[in-house]
Amino acid sequence: MNRVAVVGLGYAGLTLAVALARKGVTVFGYDRDPGVVAALATGRPHLFEPGIEEGLREVLGDRLSVAAELSREPVDAAVLCVSTPVNSETHQPELENLRAAARRVAETCAPDTLVVVRSTVPVGATRRVVLPELLGRWPRARLAFCPERTIQGQALRELEELPQVVGGLDRESREAAAALFARLTPRVVPVSSLEAAEMIKLINNCHTDLIYAFGNEVALMAERFGLDPLELVHAANIDYPRPDLSRPGFVGGSCLSKDPYLLLGSSRSAGYDPWLVEQARGLNEHLPIHVARRFLDLLRETRGEPAGSRILLLGFAYKGAPPTDDMRGAPVLAMLEVFRTAPLTLLGHDYLVAPEVLKRLGVTPCRPEEGFAGSDGVLIITNHPEYAKLDLPRLLASLRRPALIYDCWRILDEEGVRAAGQIRYAGIGYG
Ligand SMILES: NC(=O)c1ccc[n+]([C@@H]2O[C@H](COP(=O)([O-])OP(=O)(O)OC[C@H]3O[C@@H](n4cnc5c(N)ncnc54)[C@H](O)[C@@H]3O)[C@@H](O)[C@H]2O)c1
Repeated sequence: MNRVAVVGLGYAGLTLAVALARKGVTVFGYDRDPGVVAALATGRPHLFEPGIEEGLREVLGDRLSVAAELSREPVDAAVLCVSTPVNSETHQPELENLRAAARRVAETCAPDTLVVVRSTVPVGATRRVVLPELLGRWPRARLAFCPERTIQGQALRELEELPQVVGGLDRESREAAAALFARLTPRVVPVSSLEAAEMIKLINNCHTDLIYAFGNEVALMAERFGLDPLELVHAANIDYPRPDLSRPGFVGGSCLSKDPYLLLGSSRSAGYDPWLVEQARGLNEHLPIHVARRFLDLLRETRGEPAGSRILLLGFAYKGAPPTDDMRGAPVLAMLEVFRTAPLTLLGHDYLVAPEVLKRLGVTPCRPEEGFAGSDGVLIITNHPEYAKLDLPRLLASLRRPALIYDCWRILDEEGVRAAGQIRYAGIGYG
């Protein structure tokens, strides 16, 4: 496994391509988006991921090439890392990218090439969508599903540390895929089928969704009881030998906002309607809406009518830690739907999302200091580590009075906020 094509050079494909090239594999990267390829070819990644720019520069033109066409150079394996979104209205999976990528590999590569699906797919999709494209042109196929399970922001490290689950069409495919990933990670976990590997990826993410959803449900109940959800969660977890409760927080990103729908759809097609998966997703999708409504209610209580208020929104990426520029499934998107119903002046800031993106959302981009000055309310949406390091006394002094600080992740010093006078402090399910 010395020569590998990587199809789709987004978050999953680019990190894999760089990581493999660094391990001495010759990698032919292919993306159908010429803009992506043009940026990468000059050594400038089109996305944020710690270490990716340095990694790209290290291997580009040497063991890694990128092109807007799939290379005709012979390869041992082709890894499909294309996007597999769900329809925003129906939540049905859209697998055309995957089908097209498989077709392109079948047209371009030799029939003994190992094809690895790395995109997240509904259970059964590798066999149903990819295999027929290969067998349409090849007498036989070597096919595996090897899920990408890294977290954005630590992907390069995790690619080398996380165990790699590997499922194959047959034993030969599985062993070939295991040999490929053994170049990257010390632990490969072979499983019995393509479908088992597909489902493992989905249950990992749905479990995460579920765990966080319960923390969020605790917060929503605590709000009604007038209790502090963080106090409850912390105290409940101290030296308690059963699974930890999660603290409340938003659950977004391209994977968690989509994968539960992939599992729901697959499971329903197989005749089982899951009880938990849909409820957890629904609750996590409701949370940003709840927070935005609550923010407006608290603003009303604090200042009278929120209309005309100047509001600062901090954190537009889907998460703050580890930092990312990715806005897929970002809580701010659902919040803006609520805020647009009130005549507010919206200012916004993110350390990694470009100011032009904020402008397109109808928000005036600014630095945190500019945003605090003269604002009536501040909503801190992500836990980007830099927000906890802001010069709080100076910023708070510049707010109008009375003011509201809604600190979703409770990263500010609450006492410090209260000490600044005439500022109401709140968080998810709190205050
Ligand atoms: N982002 C992550 O950290 C992550 C983690 C786990 C799993 N995944 C899965 O990996 C897959 C890719 O996710 P991503 O975040 O990298 O998406 P992305 O949108 O960042 O990148 C996908 C890339 O594929 C390219 N592409 C689409 N169809 C193509 C085709 N037919 N031929 C060539 N290129 C094509 C697109 O132009 C794009 O650059 C998805 O299935 C996702 O669920 C992603």
